[in-house]
Amino acid sequence: MERRHFLKNTLAGATMLSFTSGSFSEIFGQKAPSNKIKVALIGCRNQGWSNLENFLKYPDVECISLCDVDDEWLNKCAAAVEQRTGKKPPQLVKDWRRVIDNQDVDAVIIGTPDHWHCLPLVAACQAGKDAYVEKPLANTIEECNLMVKAVRKYNRIVQVGQWQRSDPHWDEAAAFVQSGRLGQVRTVKVWAYQTAKWTLPVVPDSNPPTGVDYDMWLGPAPKRNFNSNRFHYNFRFFWDYAGGLMSDWGVHLLDYALKAMNVGLPAYVYGAGSKYAYPNDAMETPDTLMVTYKYPGFNIIWDHACGIGHGDFDKGEGLAFFGENGTLILTRGGWEVRPENNNRGRNFPYCYPCDDAPSPATPRMEAVEWKKGEGKGLYKHVGNLLECIKSRQQPNCSIETGAQTAKLSHLANISCRLGKALAWNDSTNTFDDKRANKLVKAYYRAPWKLPVV
Ligand SMILES: NC(=O)c1ccc[n+]([C@@H]2O[C@H](COP(=O)([O-])OP(=O)(O)OC[C@H]3O[C@@H](n4cnc5c(N)ncnc54)[C@H](O)[C@@H]3O)[C@@H](O)[C@H]2O)c1
Repeated sequence: MERRHFLKNTLAGATMLSFTSGSFSEIFGQKAPSNKIKVALIGCRNQGWSNLENFLKYPDVECISLCDVDDEWLNKCAAAVEQRTGKKPPQLVKDWRRVIDNQDVDAVIIGTPDHWHCLPLVAACQAGKDAYVEKPLANTIEECNLMVKAVRKYNRIVQVGQWQRSDPHWDEAAAFVQSGRLGQVRTVKVWAYQTAKWTLPVVPDSNPPTGVDYDMWLGPAPKRNFNSNRFHYNFRFFWDYAGGLMSDWGVHLLDYALKAMNVGLPAYVYGAGSKYAYPNDAMETPDTLMVTYKYPGFNIIWDHACGIGHGDFDKGEGLAFFGENGTLILTRGGWEVRPENNNRGRNFPYCYPCDDAPSPATPRMEAVEWKKGEGKGLYKHVGNLLECIKSRQQPNCSIETGAQTAKLSHLANISCRLGKALAWNDSTNTFDDKRANKLVKAYYRAPWKLPVV
């Protein structure tokens, strides 16, 4: 049955490709002379470049197109590609729609800010291209749902940039949690304590830098004067474009809370936080936030702080699965298990003065010493997509996974913004609150329109 199902899907995908992409033969290696996967990068700064750099480590990749609204980063990226490959990509553009029109592009890498993920991804799918799209998948729940629909309707292969999914120690740790050895897990704590970019002092509006198409940078977001605080990198601290630390770091880490506990979105969320530390700086998103996601039998807690680096277990970011037998601690660096003791070398109930000798502490399970991760997550994540482009199998971070974790982060932000606990109905995509339901939706500035799928 499974094989028949696979063949049916593969043939359906192949038929669609031959009509839509024009690059079927290259992907499947039938007659293309170079046998390369031809990629384009949209959004060339910071993570976009890191992604492309990892694509270029694979010999079957050729970068044929770059797009950025900022000449500076477009040119810097073109020079970096030339330095690595000896060849400048032939297409350098400021309008991403030219990349979608380019029939030679097999796959797009979308490294733009969060408010600019949905439109290019849906257009790429409609044009028969595969994609690597950055996390969080989108800036609203409505866009996330649309993107899932587009990938499935057009039968595309899309990897979401939650690269922990391809870093083996994350799955090892999740499997350990699922083995039951920790005993009942009642709390999963997930945190990001960040000292980098912890505050943004207010600066006046100004003209956009020369060479920047600022209107295209804003795209579907509301029209505003240019302010450098809201631009490159720092956009993540403004609601029009992103969701702060919650959706930036949260999606990476919370993904593994859901995976290890084998659950989807919760029925209840309460996010409490604000700009407690820097009330008068420019950031809109909370510098301090604690969220409770309530599940039957356990809670997932999210906790973030800008400007404080000593998170739990003195780790700046991570997850801790608190079980009755021990606690599993998981970070980008590795994982370990610290056992609970049946007693702490004292008798209970305590008696003072007490004649009994203290009984020895007996651990409830074996410790797992710190197991260092490989640190090659992004490289492997890219490699996994390239394999899947050829095999037409699902990549390690499917569009559904990306959507689920992005939505989880939006649930918390919406609760925090409204200052109240909310019930979420995942089958109808609605909250028990009218104002919250308004924040589920995407509002696009004309002439941009939410894509119809
Ligand atoms: N997976 C990870 O580990 C990871 C790490 C950092 C950032 N990210 C994600 O990557 C995305 C980008 O973040 P960043 O820190 O690289 O941002 P950035 O601001 O440094 O870079 C974004 C680039 O996109 C360009 N851009 C903006 N609008 C564009 C448009 N319409 N067309 C073409 N180019 C456009 C900008 O000019 C800029 O060069 C975000 O969604 C972020 O969450 C992921």
